[in-house]
Amino acid sequence: MLANNAVQFHDYEPELAEFGEEVINGLNQIPRTIPPKFFYDQTGSEIFDAICETDEYYVTRTEINILETYQEDIAKHIGPGCLLIEPGSGSSQKVRILLDALKPHTYLPMDISRDYLKLAAQDVANEYPWLDVQAACIDYTVPIDLPANLPGNAPNSRKIAFFPGSSIGNFEPGQARTFLHNIANMVQPGGGLLIGVDLKKNPDLLHAAYNDANGSTAAFNLNLLTRINRELNGNFDVNAFSHHAFYNEKKGRIEMHLVSEQTQNIKIDNQEFQFTAGEHIHTESSYKYHIEEFQQLARQAGFKPVKVWTDKDHLFSVHFLEATDKNLAP
Ligand code: AVI
Repeated sequence: MLANNAVQFHDYEPELAEFGEEVINGLNQIPRTIPPKFFYDQTGSEIFDAICETDEYYVTRTEINILETYQEDIAKHIGPGCLLIEPGSGSSQKVRILLDALKPHTYLPMDISRDYLKLAAQDVANEYPWLDVQAACIDYTVPIDLPANLPGNAPNSRKIAFFPGSSIGNFEPGQARTFLHNIANMVQPGGGLLIGVDLKKNPDLLHAAYNDANGSTAAFNLNLLTRINRELNGNFDVNAFSHHAFYNEKKGRIEMHLVSEQTQNIKIDNQEFQFTAGEHIHTESSYKYHIEEFQQLARQAGFKPVKVWTDKDHLFSVHFLEATDKNLAP
């Protein structure tokens, strides 16, 4: 059956991240690191969904609860008829909470995985026949120039970016500032950003969220080694590494590591790496912010904080920021 609300697709042909190159470079660094973007192969994405369902990982359900509770107020601040852009849209799950109240003119999900994006965007178009759905296959971490002929990109239509999930926390603060600055340029002065940001809190709660009793987060972390074995011809013994996650209070971030349980030699294709017992690979940082701390970062990136919504326990925050006409350097 032909969909009567067909999605218009824009392909920016992003260069796929060089998994092999980045892994080899990262493992040669001191301390060894692998960027967290490589967690999300098919299995990793499924395990991440399982993490979001655990009792300990409060992030997803708390943000959904804030969006549901305040959807009308959020819509009031943004106004109807905007061009709603979602970088890293994945399954476009959270945006559905807002669409009926917000009534955007156009929804533009952006993602690097082309096939998944096409399916997810078409699902939204089918569910919301009144909505113009465009989709852009793009690497959203690089500056984005929206095509002038994009429907909904008329000079007088307000551009709003939506970036939920506290994915901003997985950037180093300097990278986060650059990313926010790129978004401010994309939405232009008067445009805005609705963004989910995880808050600083009791370290015990943070520790539990990244060390769930089911072992989902451990499986998520260790799956990186399985992926390297499969895709890069590696020979990691996954049982000889363990998941280690802790809150680094000084840096205000959760750190995830994979720790070598013993002295061992690893091969990836024909490169060899020697691990001592206890040596670790840093696989993810997840920064947590105080509200004012994040607002300060946003100001430095060219945004004016307008409103922030939180849950009653102050676990999570959703900020609405407006782009100013100050073109501040990243
Ligand atoms: C996607 N990102 C915001 C998650 C986080 O909390 O930093 C990824 C994650 N890592 C372990 N659990 C969840």
